[in-house]
Amino acid sequence: MSKRVAAVSIIALSFALAACSQEPGAASGPAASEQTADHAPVYAAPTEQPVDPFTYANYRQIRVRHIDLDLDVLFDEKVLEGVAVLDLVYVDGAATVLVLDANDLDIKSVEANADGAWSAAPYTLGPDDPVKGSALEIELPDAAAQVRITYRTSPEAEGLQWLAPEQTAGKAHPFLFSQFQPLYARTMAPLQDTPAVRITYSAKLRTPPELIAVMSAAQDPDGVRDGEYSFDMPQPIPAYLLALAVGDIGFKAINDHIGVYAEDYILDASAAEFEDTPKMEQAINDLYGPYKWGRYDMIVLPPSFPFGGMENPRLSFLTPTLIAGDKSLTNVVAHELAHSWSGNLVTNSSWRDAWLNEGFTSYVENRVMEVLYGEDRAVMERSLDLDALKLTVAEADRPELTALKMPADIAHPDDAFSQVSYAGGMFFLKFLEQRFGRETFDAFLRSYFDHFAFKSITTEDFLNYFETNLWTDNPDAVTKEEIDAWVYEPGIPDTIEAPSSDAFAKVSAQQAQWLAGEIAAAELKTDAWSTHEWLHFLNALPDDMIPDQFADIDGAYDLSNSQNAEIAFAWYMKAIAGGYEPAMAPLERFLMSVGRGKFIYRLYAALIENDRRDWAAEVFARARPAYHPIAQRRIEEIFAEAG
Ligand code: BES
Ligand code: ZN
Repeated sequence: MSKRVAAVSIIALSFALAACSQEPGAASGPAASEQTADHAPVYAAPTEQPVDPFTYANYRQIRVRHIDLDLDVLFDEKVLEGVAVLDLVYVDGAATVLVLDANDLDIKSVEANADGAWSAAPYTLGPDDPVKGSALEIELPDAAAQVRITYRTSPEAEGLQWLAPEQTAGKAHPFLFSQFQPLYARTMAPLQDTPAVRITYSAKLRTPPELIAVMSAAQDPDGVRDGEYSFDMPQPIPAYLLALAVGDIGFKAINDHIGVYAEDYILDASAAEFEDTPKMEQAINDLYGPYKWGRYDMIVLPPSFPFGGMENPRLSFLTPTLIAGDKSLTNVVAHELAHSWSGNLVTNSSWRDAWLNEGFTSYVENRVMEVLYGEDRAVMERSLDLDALKLTVAEADRPELTALKMPADIAHPDDAFSQVSYAGGMFFLKFLEQRFGRETFDAFLRSYFDHFAFKSITTEDFLNYFETNLWTDNPDAVTKEEIDAWVYEPGIPDTIEAPSSDAFAKVSAQQAQWLAGEIAAAELKTDAWSTHEWLHFLNALPDDMIPDQFADIDGAYDLSNSQNAEIAFAWYMKAIAGGYEPAMAPLERFLMSVGRGKFIYRLYAALIENDRRDWAAEVFARARPAYHPIAQRRIEEIFAEAG
């Protein structure tokens, strides 16, 4: 494509979308035509974003720009019931049908507001697709500016987990929390469930009066507990960042705009574990510009929360398995906070580009760890990430899944969230940092976050911006082949800056002595080992250790009962592979009490692979009711795939 054509189509696109001002094309600044003559552009600005395959929404014709929710939280029935009002913007003035995403929703009525008058609008709900749910097609009268949908969610809604009182720590009250990334917001409300579309929202939630409701929005942490809660999110966010939680939770401030919500049993410990969060915020502010979202709070959820963390804006959702007592797992907080720049401010416009969210965030996370705790810890964390990336690449079903840009035909968005997007994306940015120099690269990233703030963009938008604003000034720093190898070609490029940790080298040397039988486990000099050194030690153990070796190391350090969930997980993986029986009872307790997918998916898969399928199935049958619907489905798939 010639420069001139590219520039012209950018102008055409920005005109067409000016009303929404969400597409990067509308604001992607210096167009390709500003390239210097000696550096002909190779990554032309995309003129049009491809349609997100995981949505039914016709967002190219009509965009929802605001949603107002008014919902009763009905614990007895496990449903949300009420009304959603959606404000519309016409991209195509001739459009007469609005298509929304819905999944398991019981639609009671649909009305449209044209010229201030509400009237019933005809609608149909299409067939149910196992991944996408159903299309809700609404016929609009002329000039309809809003639709109002009265509906109920299903008790089986995949994006909501309803916990009975006995499944909480306090045992007295029920608990509800959402998890909408990547495509479960449509199980909570009919909307345009694609990261390409950004909305503002307002909400009213009515709950039992003794409970507190929180959302990914502005709210008063000192508000009265009366069962009526109002929220406002004035900044445009993709639907997957809507979030709510309701329970018997308390709040503890960490500073004047950062704090933590949790059940009482873990509230003080959480505030202590996360006391460095203000320093993390400061570190990112210094690097990439000010935090733009007002408050930053966290909520520590019940153990069935299926992720380590989820970056819901203004309110990260976190697993209680982070509370290790020594801040050793707080990189997850750095990660979720970093999403306030990479992901929430600048958002991947489809899950094919998930690395723009997760790779950038992993990079920023690691920079934060370096600022707060030093280079050694940052290198150790990168080294563990590289080991995990190598495993992922070795085990990938299809080579296309090992390039940063995911193929167009991924079966489920989850396929885009492997270590390739996380660690692969981070190492790509590390490579750029190394080639262009840290100071220059930091300034570039700062301008990137600023330029695309509150926009949803593709990999190609990034490449174009990178080319125009960084590469062009130093054309010899990298070659197109090198960039393409990271972004579009499978495998780990040989330009990776492999981390080398002295601390890990020392651990490995001791491990070799122990494995060779030169020293007993109790003689390992582990006193000063951090969690990361332990993880390196455990991951590097061979799968074929003999029972005496398992017993020696477990006897010395009681690894089977480690209270650090990462260490326990790494140990159980080895114990399963090596058939170490004494770890099985503690492993069972772990599987019965922790629902974090990162751990339990791999533990179940390893159990099946290592001839413990019946045992695993029996544990799963008992643990299942407490697992999140997302985890239930994933583990069922793991059993089914294993045959
Ligand atoms: N956004 C993710 C969680 C997620 C990914 C939810 C894909 C749904 C689909 C979150 O920011 C995340 O990456 N969490 C990680 C922690 C991180 C330090 C790698 C996790 O949950 O383990
Ligand atoms: Zn993330």
